[in-house]
Amino acid sequence: MNDWQALRDHHRMVADRPILTLFDDARAEAFSVRADDLLFDFSKTNICETGLNLLLSLVDTSDLATKRGAMFSGARINDTEHRAVLHTALRNLDTPVMVDGADVMTAVREVHGRMTAFAEDVRTGRFTGAGGAITDVVNIGIGGSDLGPAMACIALSPFADGPRCHFVSNVDGAHIADTLAVLNPETTLVIVASKTFTTIETMTNAETAKVWMGAKVADPAAQFVAVSTAMDKTAAFGIDPARVFGFEDWVGGRYSMWGPIGLAIMLAVGPKDFDGFLSGAASMDAHFRNADPAQNLPVLLALVGIWHNQICDYATRAVLPYEQRLARLPAYLQQLEMESNGKRVSVDGADLPIHSGPVVWGEPGTNGQHAFYQLIHQGTRVVPCEFMVGREGFEPDLAHQHRLLVANCLAQSEALMRGRSLAEATAIMKAKGLEGAELDRQARHRVFPGNRPSTTLCYPKLTPFVLGQIVALYEHRVFVEGVILGINSYDQWGVELGKELALALQPILEGASAEGKDGSTRQLVEYLR
Ligand code: F6P
Repeated sequence: MNDWQALRDHHRMVADRPILTLFDDARAEAFSVRADDLLFDFSKTNICETGLNLLLSLVDTSDLATKRGAMFSGARINDTEHRAVLHTALRNLDTPVMVDGADVMTAVREVHGRMTAFAEDVRTGRFTGAGGAITDVVNIGIGGSDLGPAMACIALSPFADGPRCHFVSNVDGAHIADTLAVLNPETTLVIVASKTFTTIETMTNAETAKVWMGAKVADPAAQFVAVSTAMDKTAAFGIDPARVFGFEDWVGGRYSMWGPIGLAIMLAVGPKDFDGFLSGAASMDAHFRNADPAQNLPVLLALVGIWHNQICDYATRAVLPYEQRLARLPAYLQQLEMESNGKRVSVDGADLPIHSGPVVWGEPGTNGQHAFYQLIHQGTRVVPCEFMVGREGFEPDLAHQHRLLVANCLAQSEALMRGRSLAEATAIMKAKGLEGAELDRQARHRVFPGNRPSTTLCYPKLTPFVLGQIVALYEHRVFVEGVILGINSYDQWGVELGKELALALQPILEGASAEGKDGSTRQLVEYLR
């Protein structure tokens, strides 16, 4: 805990220091890092050289290098489930990885090959539905079996030249009903995506889809594909093993879109661009493994996160992509970060002596500017902002709009840091003719405290490769934060209690006695059943 105490002591001394005063000619470059063609600028934070060195000492004392090596080499680091954590193997197809004495990559490559062949068959019309070539794909899954592929299909829409992909996750019948209402069952392919093949939302929606398809298609199961670790259960559901794409339990749900869970992405953009997505992630893996901590993008992103959350006590962080096609990235990162590092005990089961991971939220800019940025600029709480922006868009005719987008992104981080003083606000209002008490009152409403931290991640253009880099960057950030906090980032016991209680409430909603339930739950049941 000495490192933490040193960081807290340092923070106490510098907490009120204006970030702007830290800037000399060298700061922007010194507090930035590049990986391939990404640029991560964290100079608009209150981290100085002393603070950075103290943060970097957390990397040494937590023995990050050894733990990183353990993850990549297949050690069972998820030790409440006794599993290895090897999503990185799914995108480094040529590197052998031994688990229990056997190279797991043979099976990984075999499934990747089958996925590729199947995607080609669907995309070229060799695989057909009852009514001909597949026009639409419905991915039924939830959490990690939904958010990643759904996010990536939107992100990579300029590359999409295959069937349209739709995503159904919610057990609310409205979701599947609205999705299927506009589709033709005879040309629709359904992917049932579930690591466990037991998740109640997914299995319920899958049954609904089967009935919908069965009304028009003689052999509905022929237009179903399964993606899972549970082959016995996919068979029981009636899906031909030839169309089952398996993966191992060492791929966590929220880390799984690099393998078969990414089938919808591959169908949408094609195997070549899907492989480009894998290559981008692999290049971030190589950077994470090889770069010195002080020049390591995931390490620095994690340390900025630790500084803001555990040291400055800012409870949330906003992810603000200035890229409409990253609209679902904040939701994806919410699961990645909050399900991974939202834990209250450390690996050894002892209470965490510090806060666990932050609340992660966000929306694309510029939309957020006209909604919640008011609080970010003038609210009483500080929200560290993580901006993202590309140098170039995919609409050459609309380059002027892209410049407007970039200008807005840069303006926000500048405004957050710079703020507007009472003197400046008073001068503006005075120029408008106000004076006396009214001048003061109106000016005070127009003060921006400033000194609000943000980071900016810049990338050339949102290609499959770049998306892979960005997602892998965040995965490794979660890993580094987890290691430093002493958390197992790869289990998710916190989702279980609600599932159990929902199961018990189902018969009560159908009429069984609510005895034993608290007064509020009884009242709600009575109203709702
Ligand atoms: O309930 C949480 C969770 O287990 C997530 O971790 C997971 O991504 C999601 O449910 C879906 O699980 P599955 O892929 O097994 O259906």
